[in-house]
Amino acid sequence: MGKEQAWLEATWDKLQKKFAIERERMGSKIPYFAVNNEYKQDFGSFLPSFWTNGFWAGICWQMYQATGNEKYKDTARITSDILNKLLLKADELYHDVGFMWLNTSVADYRITKDEDARKFGLHAANILAGRFNPAGGFIRAWNDDGREGFAIIDCMMNINLLYWAYEVTGDPRYKHIAIRHADTTLENHIREDGSVYHIVSIDPENGAVAGFPENQGYSSTSSWSRGQAWALYGFALSYRHTKDIRYLNAAKQVAHYFIANVSLADWIPLVDFRAPKEPVYIDTTAGAIAASGLLEIEEYVPEFEKAFYSEAALCILKSTEEKYADWDESHDGIISGGTGSYHGHNGNRFDADVPIIYGDYYFLEAVLRLLGKGVRLW
Ligand code: GLY
Repeated sequence: MGKEQAWLEATWDKLQKKFAIERERMGSKIPYFAVNNEYKQDFGSFLPSFWTNGFWAGICWQMYQATGNEKYKDTARITSDILNKLLLKADELYHDVGFMWLNTSVADYRITKDEDARKFGLHAANILAGRFNPAGGFIRAWNDDGREGFAIIDCMMNINLLYWAYEVTGDPRYKHIAIRHADTTLENHIREDGSVYHIVSIDPENGAVAGFPENQGYSSTSSWSRGQAWALYGFALSYRHTKDIRYLNAAKQVAHYFIANVSLADWIPLVDFRAPKEPVYIDTTAGAIAASGLLEIEEYVPEFEKAFYSEAALCILKSTEEKYADWDESHDGIISGGTGSYHGHNGNRFDADVPIIYGDYYFLEAVLRLLGKGVRLW
């Protein structure tokens, strides 16, 4: 057995033990991040409609697919029941219905073919499609007044809900909206060096680019690493769904930029690759997302290019596991060192340097992918 295989199998063994105990502890909680080794049921500031709320179910669906243990299916459906009620309150939902429903009802349908799950997934897809603005050709990200024209890089993951809706209905409207949004993102977000803007503000009346507001990274012209990871993975997935080579080339361009930066820091991403040297803020979630995205790219490149992407993914995963995995089964969360945003929330960095649920999700997804297990949710 090669060294990598031994590491993968040992890591998978630890993931199974940890998630089995965590699942029992979790009850009906929908976790976001752990503080003092404990997930809080923190809907106070993070409403049920918060973008991260599908990822625990996503973990459970991956675990169900990989182990066959029915308890994971039952736990995943607890989240679905909570989220599906939100479909009646579309004004509280935003473009992240993609992250939320791909991890829940759509995952359920992909695995079990449950007909209700399909309908809930399609309902969410219709909400996402309804956010499309033909002037400018983009999906509106958030609901706040003054942000009508904000298109954000993260949405490259959300549009996979539209590709799925096209797949199951055959209705090309879903595909056309996803492609128009991907094309607009390709044109506006990617810079010459392979880095990406987090937000591009588009005039919602005439479609002209109006600016580059700052948000989760250090500044509007810097390079928020999780945004780079969404671009890398999101464009690779748009290639998967459309076979348009421009998307694969974009994914590779962003991947090269990401690898060049992360390899200089022992394979652990800074929150922002273009922030001042001090303070040093890291975000392991960006690494986990990028690792899974690099494995996506690896599938589509010629044989002689494959090792470049898969080895970079393994370097990220192994370094992350060695430095940041907490295998103590009495603690909630596995991959610490996750950070929501560079500046925090009005300067309060409470979700910084902590285990975050989507960090655990993408770490698991990448490990399962390398083992040939798990399910494709995107
Ligand atoms: N909204 C997705 C993210 O914070 O990465």
